[in-house]
Parts: sequence; structure tokens; C-alpha cells
Amino acid sequence: MSISSSWFDRLTMTKAKYLMICKNISIIVAIARNFAIGKNNDLLFHLPNDLKRFKQITSGHTIIMGRNTLLSLPKWPLPNRRHIVITDDPEDNFPGCEIVFSIEEAILKVQNEKEAFIIGGGSIYRQFYPFAGKLYLTLVHKDFDADIFFPEIDYSGWEEISCEDFYDDKNDFDYSYLNLERK
Ligand SMILES: NC(=O)c1ccc[n+]([C@@H]2O[C@H](COP(=O)([O-])OP(=O)(O)OC[C@H]3O[C@@H](n4cnc5c(N)ncnc54)[C@H](OP(=O)(O)O)[C@@H]3O)[C@@H](O)[C@H]2O)c1
Repeated sequence: MSISSSWFDRLTMTKAKYLMICKNISIIVAIARNFAIGKNNDLLFHLPNDLKRFKQITSGHTIIMGRNTLLSLPKWPLPNRRHIVITDDPEDNFPGCEIVFSIEEAILKVQNEKEAFIIGGGSIYRQFYPFAGKLYLTLVHKDFDADIFFPEIDYSGWEEISCEDFYDDKNDFDYSYLNLERK
């Protein structure tokens, strides 16, 4: 088999896989009203209940993230989760994490899993958004100054599974947990 046809087969297979496996790829993200999600490689707010929810939803599953998001964590690996980190740098070596060099490679690594979670950041959310089957959103009803944003969500393409509203008195903002499934 020539190099080009092998490359073509791989590309075709990867595209077919997208269609088959998008249902098992979920995005989990906390988004401000202006779609802001991060600044200076950090989160925009500290919301302890949301961190608990993140732990509860992702524990026991694979989490997929970009290199910057891994480096933004206070420590890693997070307990009881398989970590897949997407990077361009072949020199990267993050103990406790599997390294991949493309979103296709990440998708193939979780193809047999019931549900795997995309946990950020901005560039990774943008690339996975078209393939994700579910969104676990924490929507903070306030604008934030930011340098990283989530892609704008077209809600007509998503079905609401659940929605809960809360108020955080320390932050003095309202927020909602909104779970959506692709129609
Ligand atoms: N609000 C939330 O829920 C939430 C969650 C997670 C993260 N965040 C925030 O998001 C920000 C980080 O986002 P970010 O966009 O800067 O970084 P990121 O998406 O975490 O990681 C970007 C890195 O991934 C690599 N990468 C991306 N796509 C790739 C591909 N297709 N193939 C190979 N490598 C690829 C990039 O390489 P190159 O750039 O070299 O191409 C870069 O090194 C931080 O502020 C963080 O706090 C927020």
C-alpha cells in the first residue's frame, strides 16, 4: 500500500469514526454570559460547587485536554481519571498522562469508552464542539474580562436534558447547570 492511500484510508476511517462515536464525547465547561472561559491561563472564577460537580461527573472516566489546560491545573493527574493531553510538542512528557498529537488520535483512544470528557481549554473546545454528543454547561450569568472564549452555542441543535439554577453568595452571581444532548 502506498503512503498516500494509507493516509487516505486513515483519514476516511477517522471521519467515519467521528460520525459513529460523537455520542460518547461530552464537553464539560464553565462559561460566563459573554462566552468567556479563561484569562492568563487560569479560570475566571472560583466556584467550589462547580468543582464538586466536575469531580462527580468526570470521576471514573477519561478526560481529554489541551496542554495549556493541563499546565493550569494546580496538580495532576486528577484522581481516578485517565488523562489524555493534546500537544504539538514531541518533547512533552507529563507523568500520569497519555500524550497525543491530534484530536483524531484522542478520539480513537476513547472509541470503546461509554463516555469521555473534553475538559478544555479554548482551542480544544473549538475543535471538539462539532463532534460532541453532550454538553455539561455551567453558565455563569455575568460577563467577565477574558482572553479565551467558548464557541457560541446554537441552542436549536441541542435538546435540554436538565437545568438547575443557583446563586453563589461569595461570588454574588447567579449560575445554572445546563445539560444538553445533540438532537
Ligand atoms: N471555564 C472552563 O471550564 C475551562 C476549562 C478548561 C480550561 N479553561 C481555560 O482555558 C484556557 C486554556 O485554553 P487554551 O486554548 O489556551 O489552551 P488549551 O486548549 O488547553 O491547550 C492548547 C494547547 O493544545 C495544543 N493543541 C491544540 N489543538 C491541537 C491539535 N489539534 N493538535 C496538537 N496540539 C494541539 C496547542 O498547541 P499549539 O498552540 O502549539 O498548536 C496548545 O499547546 C485557560 O485560561 C484555562 O483556565 C477554562
